[in-house]
Amino acid sequence: MKASKRYHPSREFSQKAHVRSMGAYRKLYQQALDTPEEFWGAQAEREIHWFQKWSHVFEWNPPFAKWFVGAKTNISYNCLDRHLSTWRKNRAAIIWEGEPGDQQVLTYQELHRRVCRFANVLKGLGLKAGDTSIIYMPMIPALPIAMLACARLGIAHSVVFGGFSAEALKTRIQDLEAKVVITADGGWRRGREIHLKATADEALADCPTVKDVVVCRRTGHEVAMHAGRDHWWHELEQSVSEVCEAEVLDSETPLFVLYTSGTTGKPKGIVHTTGGYMVEVACTMKWVFDLREEDTYWCAADIGWVTGHSYIVYGPLMEGATTVIYEGAPDYPQPDRIWRIIEKYKVNILYTSPTAIRAFIKNGEQWPRKHDLSSLRLLGSVGEPINPAAWEWYHKVIGHERCPIVDTWWQTETGSIMISPMPGAIPTKPGSATVPLPGIVADVVDLDGNTVEPGKEGFLIIRRAWPAMFRTLYRDPQRYGDQYWRRIPGNYLTGDAARRDKDGYFWILGRVDDVMNVSGHRLSTMELESALVRHPAVAEAAVVARPHEITGQAVVAFVTLKHGGGDGKDLVEELRSWVGHEIGSFAKPEQIRFVESLPKTRSGKIMRRLLREIVTTDKVAGDITTLEDLSVISRLSSQQEEES
Ligand code: WTA
Repeated sequence: MKASKRYHPSREFSQKAHVRSMGAYRKLYQQALDTPEEFWGAQAEREIHWFQKWSHVFEWNPPFAKWFVGAKTNISYNCLDRHLSTWRKNRAAIIWEGEPGDQQVLTYQELHRRVCRFANVLKGLGLKAGDTSIIYMPMIPALPIAMLACARLGIAHSVVFGGFSAEALKTRIQDLEAKVVITADGGWRRGREIHLKATADEALADCPTVKDVVVCRRTGHEVAMHAGRDHWWHELEQSVSEVCEAEVLDSETPLFVLYTSGTTGKPKGIVHTTGGYMVEVACTMKWVFDLREEDTYWCAADIGWVTGHSYIVYGPLMEGATTVIYEGAPDYPQPDRIWRIIEKYKVNILYTSPTAIRAFIKNGEQWPRKHDLSSLRLLGSVGEPINPAAWEWYHKVIGHERCPIVDTWWQTETGSIMISPMPGAIPTKPGSATVPLPGIVADVVDLDGNTVEPGKEGFLIIRRAWPAMFRTLYRDPQRYGDQYWRRIPGNYLTGDAARRDKDGYFWILGRVDDVMNVSGHRLSTMELESALVRHPAVAEAAVVARPHEITGQAVVAFVTLKHGGGDGKDLVEELRSWVGHEIGSFAKPEQIRFVESLPKTRSGKIMRRLLREIVTTDKVAGDITTLEDLSVISRLSSQQEEES
């Protein structure tokens, strides 16, 4: 392995950091390893308010974990009420900017008031602890308000990213058996209105569990209101009180369900609970983002993904920070919107994705150069491996070689960051997420679970339960165990490949399963293939990813048509929109290639490896709409396999 360049944090940064040296990191790591109960118990006492203490720190009946067993708490209380008796009362909790340029600043006191009122609205609709809600909203303050109000009452929420289609929304509402849907008339994206309520209506046509729909007014666009079912948020709010005590909830109360792509056609409901999630998310705000009292922090992800849950809403608010929320596209109306926002609000910490960074590189240095970015002191990256060239650009052009970069590896399932530098302590190497955080026992292994040598590629696993881990798959504990914990028995299988270098640094290489990562969004091969074959003209579909300079990976679909399905010429756009309709626009294949037949093994399995090779090397050239006869290649390849 080539020795890579190292970057050390400046002395000034380290001196002020929560964790100041490699030695201090090692000490923390060792404590968590040797005495996990003591370690996590101490973190929980320091970071969180508990109405009642736990009887023991954790219980591990593989594959099921409980953390802070018997303790009582509430995350909404920890994000809000707790700060009201401190100087933070009038501190900005949320600085929000809409895409059209409108702004709002909510202090902790004001946010608390609005959350309490909305919680009373939900109570008024008869909702209570144990119920489930779907939140389908643009990135406006009402979104975190809805989440915090649900959490305040013990209602598990499932936020569905605003880019999902009616079909995708419907499956989620149905799987969750949600009683209420909280949405908005619309939102703004690249100057266009996203008609959320209309999409929700389409989904709701087939969702009998939903009794009420609460609609927040954002764009002012006229929407259909379904009598008896739909209510305007602002109208319901008029008659409620501002007082709403946080429910005293068990530590293991489900907090949220997030649906994510797995290896089958059906998205999985990742279930997170309260106590352990709170503790580890709060700790990582300090360890990874090195959060200080005076910081203005901006995570530019969408709240619809786990990153937004943990590091836009819950993490920063638990820590009493100021979190920036921006509604729209980072390059709208001009490519410097993101840099403009940083300059305007004097953002100190920026957390974004490699895809976004690569798009900024493409737009050119002149855009960030126009702005004073001197407020920045720390940069973060998440969602996919960051290529060293993008890392270097981020470091130079955005961080002015002054800001450490934290490349944070984690997943929807893990709940909080797992492998990442502690910026004041760990020297970084571009492209490596560096080392596991305290309490995270990560390893790189072969199929039998044996640790592989440094420099060798293997499966990334986690050997021990951790507080913020997901607890199960919604209504599918069997799949939870089978898929994640039984393949390498007793260990958590991440689905990523990795290698570790001689210094013990982890290099994440990407997914080893049929999950693709497009612009940091997880997409499943199976989910896309099932969407395609639902189209009446399609006989079979096989989907693979090809490397893409901006989005990391791009989706290429190989499709065979039914008899009489035409020659495909007019179908490309139709099938792309079809996928947009079935899943969401972000999932539309970049290319659709019509083929006579799909390459298969003798036993009939689609040879995805071969297709992957075709799209990466483009060995089989040709116009994307021409009909390729892959059966020939398939015959050649199986011959080769037999001969070798
Ligand atoms: C990938 C996002 C390399 C990985 C928080 C993982 C990364 C999947 C990194 C989870 C990183 C995330 N370096 N790869 N720093 N962060 N990934 O569930 O393949 O949307 O398994 O969670 O993204 O995606 P998810």
